[in-house]
Amino acid sequence: MRPPGLRDDVVYLDHNATTPVDPRVAEAARPYIETHFGNPSTAGTYADEPRRALIEARAQVAALIGARPGEIVFTSGGSESDVLALRGPALTPGDHLISQVTEHPAVLRTCAALERSGVRITLLPVDGSGRVDPEDVRRALTPRTRLVSVMLANGETGTLQPVVELAAVAREHGALFHTDAAQAVGKIPLSVADLGVDLLTVAGHKFYAPKGVGALYVRQGVVVEPLIPGGGQEGGRRSGTENVAFAVALGEAARLAREGMVAEKSRIRRLRDRLHERLDADRPGGVRLNGHPEQRLPGTLNVSLPGVLTRDLLSNLPGLAAATGSACHTGDPEPSTVLTAMGLDRERALSAIRLSLGRWTTEADVDRAAALLVAASDDVISRRASI
Ligand SMILES: Cc1ncc(COP(=O)(O)O)c(C=O)c1O
Repeated sequence: MRPPGLRDDVVYLDHNATTPVDPRVAEAARPYIETHFGNPSTAGTYADEPRRALIEARAQVAALIGARPGEIVFTSGGSESDVLALRGPALTPGDHLISQVTEHPAVLRTCAALERSGVRITLLPVDGSGRVDPEDVRRALTPRTRLVSVMLANGETGTLQPVVELAAVAREHGALFHTDAAQAVGKIPLSVADLGVDLLTVAGHKFYAPKGVGALYVRQGVVVEPLIPGGGQEGGRRSGTENVAFAVALGEAARLAREGMVAEKSRIRRLRDRLHERLDADRPGGVRLNGHPEQRLPGTLNVSLPGVLTRDLLSNLPGLAAATGSACHTGDPEPSTVLTAMGLDRERALSAIRLSLGRWTTEADVDRAAALLVAASDDVISRRASI
């Protein structure tokens, strides 16, 4: 069933910013808003159903990423999970943390805050496709390196980092490894054991759960100091009475993602490649792909339309919802820092558009988006020529 909020007159290709809530997810959560209001941490009849639901939701989220239920900490979303991952290991002045330049601001700004309190920070560069070289991690390690944090997938380009290799380098050295998988969980199959990570960020609204719920995977045996101390919920790692309805939503979203993963991944990739081909063939001069051609999320296409300022283009294109940079920094006239870190010049970065597909995207949507973009960019170019 299509979410009621998806409009017929506006093609939604901005799933990396956020996804609509799957109606099945909303339905699963509803009884925990309307009926089962008991506090799961209390004793007695009212607590039984919320407590059972929380246990089930935790198991569902764990199953999606190959973790044990006890390794899942429910949070308010990707940002909180990132901050808990970076602050939880309680680095002290003189300790060293390694991350990289295209991380989400939740990671970068936490690094900056830790640096102000005396933690040494190294931000590694990326190559032209947005990837970190594992050898750079090896070279950056010091005897005081306690934590390495590199995202699994970048939200702007979809580029996948070589996390297996990066985590292996950190592990060899005895440092913890965190990966922000907010853009990857629910979109590609993954397992924490195969990745070899200690901490992993999950964000519900990137895979059809509501905004404001997420999780942090904390490998058994890894100790994290809570950001929110209090009643000791979530195994003492995140206090506060649990948001049962949203945890249930996250669990159901995880179950649905797991169920449809393989077929959905290839369907979306096929549509994404069709969109890419259309744009490339129908636009004079084609388009330039930003990000890794293969090591990329199946539903993400970031291309530059040479000669076009995509910010202006999109603001005159009400029939298409897409992004020109990170959705987290709309309103920012500067070129995307992710694209410039990859070495793209200002003009190419300002002509970039991110098209991200999702569960209800159809072939007709993709064809319409391509036609709208081709017509609008032709228009910009011919208007410029006539000035
Ligand atoms: C890679 C990445 N990490 C973290 C976040 C933040 O997640 P949330 O919006 O749930 O706080 C985002 C959101 O865009 C993201 O793309």
